[in-house]
Amino acid sequence: MIVVRSALYLGIELYSLLFYAAIAMVVRIYYTMTVFQWLGIPYNVIKQTLFTLRSVYRYLKWWSGRTDKKIDLSNFSFEDTGNGYVRGPCPYLNTLANHGYINRAGKHITIEELLIACKRTINLSPIMTIGLSLFNMVFVGHNHPLTGQLCLSLSDLSKYHAHITVEHDASFTRRDLHLGDAVNLDPKLLTKLLAVSKDGLTVNEKDLSLYRKHIQDTCERRNPMFTFSMVQKFGAWMETAFIILFFGNGRNVSAESIRSWMGKEKIPDNYKPRKEMGILNVFAKRFKLMYLGNDLNISIRNIYDLVAPLRYDKYKYVEPKNA
Ligand code: HEM
Repeated sequence: MIVVRSALYLGIELYSLLFYAAIAMVVRIYYTMTVFQWLGIPYNVIKQTLFTLRSVYRYLKWWSGRTDKKIDLSNFSFEDTGNGYVRGPCPYLNTLANHGYINRAGKHITIEELLIACKRTINLSPIMTIGLSLFNMVFVGHNHPLTGQLCLSLSDLSKYHAHITVEHDASFTRRDLHLGDAVNLDPKLLTKLLAVSKDGLTVNEKDLSLYRKHIQDTCERRNPMFTFSMVQKFGAWMETAFIILFFGNGRNVSAESIRSWMGKEKIPDNYKPRKEMGILNVFAKRFKLMYLGNDLNISIRNIYDLVAPLRYDKYKYVEPKNA
């Protein structure tokens, strides 16, 4: 049953992603480009594609070789503030910057930097990281001021048009964009997340999934501008799977681990990466969690919100600090 429902869901999701990509790109271009930049698009697309292919090639060469491949968590000290540092809504990427796996300022991160950091810290497989990084970079990234290469600053993940692409409402630890600060951790939300644990020590996958569904329903009731398209739902459940698979042991996650990764944005002291995991592990876990959370269905809102950009001007938006 879960397999059939997941397959149906995936089909509709893929259609939505394509449809959505078209809308989101137009909105993105509308908000970020002038007509003159439009004219430069073909040249820019070719240049960026070549840059990206070169980076992916270098990463794969590094990944398949023996040298420097070992996971080393000891040489990267924790330091979460500094002159000109920017951070974003993803606790994992903030953690990478806090430890120096990507540049500590969190600015102009190249795809190669990001791919290597994901492998070094949580042992993420190439296809998964390449997909994840490219998806985010294409939608919200920018050109490097010196090299022109496509790159990402952590603050890009919360800029104006990010809300319809990679950032979403009903987050575990951030408030909805229309209601408050969607970028920085809200300690009260973290406390609520930790309260899901029955024994105060671990959160199991079922309780986490039911909690995800609960915050979606609550935010939908409270936020008049609540947006939760197929793409945002996809992201939200993906993150839930990440918590269980990478911060936890695949079945549950310790409260201490959540406190460290999502609260302090620091790699837990006794953290050991699990075996290499890729797209199949993450997708299978995501569908299982959606099933456990009773959210393996598609509502009118999920479809309707694919055109949420059309009501974009109505959002209350506060430019994040240090952007
Ligand atoms: C490599 C590219 C990645 C990018 C660009 C990225 C981007 C984002 C963004 C934009 C959000 C905000 C969504 C929201 O509105 O809540 C987010 C949330 C999150 N990300 Fe990432 N992410 C990446 C990889 C990862 C990985 C590998 C993990 C885990 C190992 C992870 C863990 C999380 C978690 C747990 C949240 C949810 C935070 C919350 O709901 O409070 N991310 N990510």
